[in-house]
Amino acid sequence: MGSLKIEHICKTYGKGENEVKALDDVSFTVPEGQMTAVVGASGSGKSTLLHILGGVDRPTSGKVFFGDQDVYALNNKDLAVFRRHQVGLIYQFYNLIPVLNAEENITLPAVMDGQKPEPEKVNALLELLGLTHRRKHLPSQLSGGQQQRVSIGRALFTAPDVILADEPTGNLDSKQTAEIIALLRKSNLERKQTMIIITHDEGIAQQCDRIITLSDGKIIRDELTGQGGGADV
Ligand SMILES: Nc1ncnc2c1ncn2[C@@H]1O[C@H](COP(=O)(O)OP(=O)(O)O)[C@@H](O)[C@H]1O
Ligand SMILES: [Mg+2]
Repeated sequence: MGSLKIEHICKTYGKGENEVKALDDVSFTVPEGQMTAVVGASGSGKSTLLHILGGVDRPTSGKVFFGDQDVYALNNKDLAVFRRHQVGLIYQFYNLIPVLNAEENITLPAVMDGQKPEPEKVNALLELLGLTHRRKHLPSQLSGGQQQRVSIGRALFTAPDVILADEPTGNLDSKQTAEIIALLRKSNLERKQTMIIITHDEGIAQQCDRIITLSDGKIIRDELTGQGGGADV
């Protein structure tokens, strides 16, 4: 179930003079359990790609498969449920719910699914993320780095098959960055999670199994790093 495949994805924003081709015929497969970095200059289409992979932004053309499931063949209601079950998406700008505190934001996908989050599990994750003393704080009462860690917790809490992360350490210092990448790798190995991580940090990219480079909406490089933590391409 955890493999990802995209076929001939194009995404165009705007019309006429304002038309922007954010993605231009992008195809690749990520086997289950592979941790892949996506790199590229600002505006190269990385976030657009991640949102399309995560089922939150329909492509202009092309297909996305999770295992055998053609994601955009689902109607919007089924797509929302599918997303909640299968994907943990860490947004570049967090997308936290402003009226919910840190703990409530982290457990929201589970609660929306009718589950009762186990307190020990919540406590362990808050501890791992260094948020125990901030659990009752609203996003507006947290620093950028703390909000980023809440958004990472929300994506990891339900242990989905696929984790998609948009510059997940963009607001963290080097120590926190190392801890978060280690946490993502641990989750990847323990749960055989398929991960795609957008990053500007060459050091992070080199810790992944594979690096895909985008430029102007196209893949210009696709290489294995030799980390060997995940599956072969
Ligand atoms: N909602 C949108 N409307 C119009 N243009 C957009 C929108 N989102 C992204 N773009 C454009 O698409 C291109 C790719 O954007 P994005 O995927 O955010 O790149 P990256 O994440 O690599 O910085 C950019 O030229 C950007 O301006
Ligand atoms: Mg981006």
